[in-house]
Amino acid sequence: MAEEKPKAVAFFGAQFERQIAAGDYQLNPFEVRALPFLSGKVLDLGCGLGNLALAAAARGAQVTAYDLCENAVEDLAERALASGLDVWVRTVDLKGWRPEETWDAVNCIGLLMFFARADALAGLVAVRDAVRPGGVAVVNVLVEGTTFTAMFDPDEHYLFRPEEVAAPFAGWEMLHDSVEEFAAPGGKVKRFRTLIARRPG
Ligand SMILES: C[S@@+](CC[C@H](N)C(=O)[O-])C[C@H]1O[C@@H](n2cnc3c(N)ncnc32)[C@H](O)[C@@H]1O
Repeated sequence: MAEEKPKAVAFFGAQFERQIAAGDYQLNPFEVRALPFLSGKVLDLGCGLGNLALAAAARGAQVTAYDLCENAVEDLAERALASGLDVWVRTVDLKGWRPEETWDAVNCIGLLMFFARADALAGLVAVRDAVRPGGVAVVNVLVEGTTFTAMFDPDEHYLFRPEEVAAPFAGWEMLHDSVEEFAAPGGKVKRFRTLIARRPG
């Protein structure tokens, strides 16, 4: 029997379908912020539609992009092929993922809060360990104070304590560090912490 996809993947799959139909491939504000830091050999974890992966590749990066959402991965694979850009994309379940090599830059925007606490915290460590000395990590997660939960599986999500996000990156140079709140449907809010940090060389 086919395994059921996580709720977040179905939620974003429906959103991506609408964006693909509308030809809406804009970078979101977090991706705009991350783009200047993504060069060389880049890994994008939870790439979604891959707009950032393509934008980084257009600036000369060699990008590997992973997501569990099949329609997003297929659409990105088609766009990468059509553009001739250096983007290698695969359908991967990133829960429990550990790196087998290191990268000049690792991007992980809007993914880790879709895992239960232990996997969410282990995901931060995996991002850290995937960055080569002198390389850059981009991490963005939902934190405590978020009240919009429509995309969450009740047992498979975690709202980080803001200080937990930075802990694995102690001793790294902080290039960007923010907590930002955005209005969400139904009068709810989403609160994100975003870090961009350079590993000591
Ligand atoms: C909020 S979207 C972010 C997408 C993209 N990084 C962006 O900034 O637009 C969350 C992404 O995480 C992916 N995702 C959720 N659970 C996943 C899992 N277990 N393995 C891989 N990807 C997953 C979803 O398919 C979706 O593309």
